[in-house]
Parts: sequence; C-alpha cells; structure tokens
Amino acid sequence: MNSLHYAPLRNWVNDPNGLLFHDGRYHLYFQYNPLGVEHANLSWGHASSVDLLEWEDHPVALEFDDDEEVFSGSVVVDDADTTGLGAPGKPALVAFYTSMSKTADLQTQSLAYSVDDGQSWTKFQDNPLIDRGSPHFRDPKVIRYHGVDESYWVMLAVEAVERRVVFYRSDDLLSWELLSEFGPAGAVGGDWECPDLFALRVENTGVLRWVLLVSLNPGGIAGGSGTQYFVGDFDGRTFTPVTPVAPITATDDVAMRSLRWLDYGRDCYAGVSFAGLSDDHRTLIAWMSNWDYAREMPVDADAPQRGAMTLPRRLSLIEIDGVERLRQIPVVPAVTAVSRVADEVIPPGGSVTVPIRAAGRIRLAVDVDDAAGFEVSFVGDDEQTVTLTYDTSSAELIVDRVGVAQGLPKGFADVHRMPVASTPVVSLTIWIDELAIEIYADDGTRVLTDLLGTLSATSVRIAGRGAPIRIETLDTSAAVAATCS
Ligand code: FRU
Repeated sequence: MNSLHYAPLRNWVNDPNGLLFHDGRYHLYFQYNPLGVEHANLSWGHASSVDLLEWEDHPVALEFDDDEEVFSGSVVVDDADTTGLGAPGKPALVAFYTSMSKTADLQTQSLAYSVDDGQSWTKFQDNPLIDRGSPHFRDPKVIRYHGVDESYWVMLAVEAVERRVVFYRSDDLLSWELLSEFGPAGAVGGDWECPDLFALRVENTGVLRWVLLVSLNPGGIAGGSGTQYFVGDFDGRTFTPVTPVAPITATDDVAMRSLRWLDYGRDCYAGVSFAGLSDDHRTLIAWMSNWDYAREMPVDADAPQRGAMTLPRRLSLIEIDGVERLRQIPVVPAVTAVSRVADEVIPPGGSVTVPIRAAGRIRLAVDVDDAAGFEVSFVGDDEQTVTLTYDTSSAELIVDRVGVAQGLPKGFADVHRMPVASTPVVSLTIWIDELAIEIYADDGTRVLTDLLGTLSATSVRIAGRGAPIRIETLDTSAAVAATCS
C-alpha cells in the first residue's frame, strides 16, 4: 500500500497510546489486538521512528491477560526515579493504562514500567493504582506540572459516561490524590474519552493558555467519534475555560458548530500528544477511523488489518478574530512536483484536470470572486469520485464520499462540512494517499480527515459554480518516500 499513514502490517489497531519522544526516538504505542482484526484482546502494540515518517515495528509492548485488557493510556520518563522502579543509571519509562477487568464491570488505572527504553514492559505488582469502583473510568494521561514553587505529576482520566475529566496529583507516580473535575461541558452527546492537557503560548498575543482535548463518541461534529478542545487555564489543580462552555447536545447544530473541534472529518479520533517534547514542538497523532464503522471495515484476506493513524501534526495556538484556535501543521515527507497550474480563469461549465500520484500533496488557491463556489473532485481510473464543494455563501467546504462507499459499512456513505474562509481566495493544502485525505485550511486552524473508502485517485478536477473562478495556483506533488507500511 502506498501510504503516508502508519498502520501495523496486521491485525486490529485503534487509539495511539503512550506517545513519547525519548533518546532521539518517537515511540508510538497503540491499542492493538495481537490475535486478529476484531476490537478484542486489547494490548499495546509498538512502533518507533526518528523522524515521524518512517516507522519501525516492535513486538507487542503490553499484553492482555486472563484478568484484564490493556486499554488506552500514556507514558512518562521517571527521571528522578521517584517510583524506585528504575535500574542503576537508567530511569524507568512508566506507562499508565486502564485495566479493563475481564471478571468485573470495572475500569481502573494501572502502571507498567520499562528499563530498556520502552522495548519490554513489566506490569506493576500492586496494580491497580486507582480504583473508583467505576465501570467507565479510563484513559489516563500523565503530565508533569511545573508550578511557581513546586512541580508534581498530574493525571487526567475520564468518567466517560458522566462526561467528566478527573484530575489527580502524585509526587511518586504511585499514590494519587483527587484534585478536581471538569465537565460536563461542550459536546456531551456521547462518552468522553482520551483526554489530554498541555500549555501553549498563543503565537500572536503571547498569552499562555492550556488546551484540554476531549474525544467523544458518539456526538462528534461529523457524526460518531470526534474530538473537541477547550482553551483555558490550569492552576495545577483545576482547569477553567477562558469563557464558560455550557453542555450542548448533538441536535443543536448551530451551538455544536460554535465549539472548537480538532478535526471536522469522520476519521480523526482519540488524538493525544507526545510527552518528552518542548511546548513549541507539541505533536499529536490520532486514530484514523470512527467507532460508527471501524469494526466493520473490510479486510484484505492476504494481510488482514484494520485501522491506521493520522499524519503526525505539530500544534500551536493562534488567535483569529478574537478566538484562540489550535493550528495543526502535518509532519510530512519531501515531495517532487507533478503538475502546476497558475493564474487560470475557469468559466462556468469549464474545468481543469491534472494528474496526481497515489501518495502526495495538492495545494490549491482559488479566487471565488462572484462565484457561488467551486468543486474539487478526486477521481479514480474507474470514475469513482470524492468531491469537495466550496460554498461561498456559507463559507463551508462540503465533503461528499458517498461515491466511494460501495461495499463499506452503512455509516461510511456520508457528507460533512467544515468552515473555511474566503478572502476571496480559498486556500487548501491536501494530503492524499490510498487510505485517506487530510485537508488543511485557514492556515491549519481548520482540518478535515476522511478515509477514502474504495477510491484510488489518479486525477483532480476543479470546476466553478455559477460564475468564473480564477485558479491562483494548483500544484500537485508526489511524496518522495511514502514509507509507512
Ligand atoms: C477510545 C477508547 C478508549 C478505550 C479504548 C479501548 O477509542 O474507547 O476510551 O480506552 O478505546 O480500545
């Protein structure tokens, strides 16, 4: 497969777990079934990379057993050996994961550690560390909090069904004390999952903010799984959004669209950021699927596999029209030019078609002027098409993948939309491969990720609607090394 996206060669994969940059390597652990393509036997798979582009697969890191499945979580480096689990001269890597009990309706937080740089792991003998007696308490993310006069560990996890993020504190990573709770707030149409919290300085104002990511399923902006984020402050105890955010149900579309969404597509979920990087290198990877249909996606009989990751994305914060938004810049391979169009007017009814490669980038800047909008169609040899329609009056990009959903699960054939400004130029940077499309607009503050179903696109066609449009630039490039498996 010619892919820009990481996926293990075989078996089931969902959330990224334990993302860590350590000793010059990026470690990507992930929800993984070592035995098959079902969401079962949950364990942590493992891959690593020096550049986030080329990934090396490693043996399963943390395995399910008779008592538990190993659900999502995070990893930190215990530099000061506060756990006492390190080896001489070698700090322990400490993983926090949710023990999904096989014998009781119970989710608890547990620990495992590694003294060989994350290759092999030992489950802690006194697990679990935190037991609230809850069946829906999961997805621990541990961060180091640096206060004015003290620093300590903070764990975030969710009470999924109550739509709350719960915050705990620890000095030794072993005993944990409840600090506070956040939620329900914002989108609450589903379980809250996989929280993350990090500080970023707003690029153009210099203000320091904290960003709280909360995935939810269902109830996401495109239907099913989606990720919202809150911008606010964290004082080491409590997260407070800059402006209060009331709980909103998925039926109130206008209110839902006023929330902050990490991604407007169907296939970007449970994204979390790497530990071990400075704030100006804050980097996220998400699972590229949706619980609406992930379990039913067809598999290739020769190499049965289900699930993949999004491109890694560098995160920053920027204020636009008084709103602080995350900006995402993907980490991508080098490209070589395939085709280029510049300054070309397309009359109504006309179109421009250029070739694209199986894995690469399309950059497009269109002056919509008086036009009602334009269409960007990705077309395969068999005329299968995914169409992006820009609608000038609503300032939205509408993605229609109904034409590539044949043979796929029911929820896959759908249309969804993302706000994109026109100035009157609309600028899009699109990464495409045989799996998915990732659309970056408005300087990376709007992103839409979608699996492409049965499409293998070989060309892209641009057409205007209602009045002439002018293509300022359209360039297509091929990834020099589309290296992921
Ligand atoms: C999110 C999630 C997590 C859970 C894991 C189980 O996709 O449901 O809440 O820990 O997947 O695989």
